[in-house]
Amino acid sequence: MITIAVSSQKGGVGKTTVSINLAHAFARSGKRTLLVDADPQGSVGLSLTRQSRTLNGFYDAIADPNFPLEQLIVPTRLDTLALVPAGQCSDYELGGGAMGVSLHRVRTFFRMAAAQGHEVCIIDTAAGLFGVTADVLSACDAVLVPQQAEPLGVRSVPKMLEALTRMRVVNPRLNVLGVVMTMVQNRLAESLEAVQALRNLLPQNMVMRTVVPRDDLFVRASAKGLPVGVMEEGAGVLAVFDNLRLETENKLNVDTARS
Ligand SMILES: Nc1ncnc2c1ncn2[C@@H]1O[C@H](COP(=O)(O)OP(=O)(O)OP(=O)(O)O)[C@@H](O)[C@H]1O
Ligand SMILES: [Mg+2]
Repeated sequence: MITIAVSSQKGGVGKTTVSINLAHAFARSGKRTLLVDADPQGSVGLSLTRQSRTLNGFYDAIADPNFPLEQLIVPTRLDTLALVPAGQCSDYELGGGAMGVSLHRVRTFFRMAAAQGHEVCIIDTAAGLFGVTADVLSACDAVLVPQQAEPLGVRSVPKMLEALTRMRVVNPRLNVLGVVMTMVQNRLAESLEAVQALRNLLPQNMVMRTVVPRDDLFVRASAKGLPVGVMEEGAGVLAVFDNLRLETENKLNVDTARS
């Protein structure tokens, strides 16, 4: 099983939107995909299953390693897509989780998910690269970094990639897939300039070629609890996330071939 975290130091940059729609794209390609909400605020769960606040989930598995994974998995209408909501256990939300044990438990969680036949696991993380997110990054194969296409946001991205690269001390396997630009406004010069500025700032292989356009459909889709691609008007967006999925697969394959 390949585990891909979607992370950023920043909030509101599109992590949850990218996680849901990329997971949906992997599932549509036939891969058995598990979408995990590792954000204690639980937005994936809220979006996909309205009752998710009352469901057990990822943080319950982190708090209690004997929690059976089967009880955490929520099926979706797509056979190949399942979801693990954030869950009930708020100790970690409050920073009160037992120190040092959660990395081990994140690893155990991934092992159990792989044993159940999932081929791809996408993990939506909370903003910031600390706490349980750091443990997820220490345990997973790859990380994708969404970044909103706006001029002021771009300058801090190289530092963030450096911080992620330093995670390789703990996790030498971590493949930093790169930055995916989100909420790109094709009719706004400043937005396109922000995309270009980031391409100038970073090595070519650190910025995904696929960009996610700004589209009100994303807001409407999350209000309805759906990946945008399943909405009637969402066909155009399917192609965006198919491309992002292909690019991600290519990067992972190149990496596997090298090692
Ligand atoms: N491409 C897009 N076009 C339009 N709106 C978008 C797009 N991507 C995300 N949004 C909207 O922007 C807001 C933030 O997106 P999202 O929740 O995915 O970010 P996040 O990084 O997960 O935030 P947080 O740090 O709070 O978890 C949401 O209201 C979402 O619907
Ligand atoms: Mg989020």
